[in-house]
Amino acid sequence: MYWTKKHVMVCTAVHCNQKGGMDVAGRLRLAVLRKGLDAEILVNNCGTIDLCDCGPNIVVYPDNVIYNGVTVKDIPEIMTHLEGGPVVERLVLSATSSAELGRKGYYAEALTHDGGLPPEDAGTLAGKHGFDEGWIAEQLRRGFMARKPDAESGEDRIKVTKKAKDRYSL
Ligand code: FES
Repeated sequence: MYWTKKHVMVCTAVHCNQKGGMDVAGRLRLAVLRKGLDAEILVNNCGTIDLCDCGPNIVVYPDNVIYNGVTVKDIPEIMTHLEGGPVVERLVLSATSSAELGRKGYYAEALTHDGGLPPEDAGTLAGKHGFDEGWIAEQLRRGFMARKPDAESGEDRIKVTKKAKDRYSL
């Protein structure tokens, strides 16, 4: 690598790797090599980019594009982009992409409940924004929400963390 035209960072930190990040990195590197484009396109592994709930994620510079939920099946389309073709819109994650706006809607509404939400109410609110119980569990695992006992009742409450507030500017 010296003065490449594009730099692709593939997250292979733990959460993305659990969903195949390392395979994506390896196969994408191979695709670039097979096309003889390794002097123009550099593919690196990277640590977390803090979008751990929707990986595997890759970032393409200088295009400033984030692809999320990438699988090895997406590599041909991503290669087309890297070779000068169109961005793969269905994989793009941005602050204004519909999935991200849906998540922001959930968090904005959750924050109107002082002290957090009982787990069943968090599930109901998630459903209102198009998500299910599995989504709540994923967000808890990735640190965007936390389950804590209510100071008065001792019952579980689902609270929005600083990590989510920062991500969604809330
Ligand atoms: S593990 Fe990939 S964004 Fe966090």
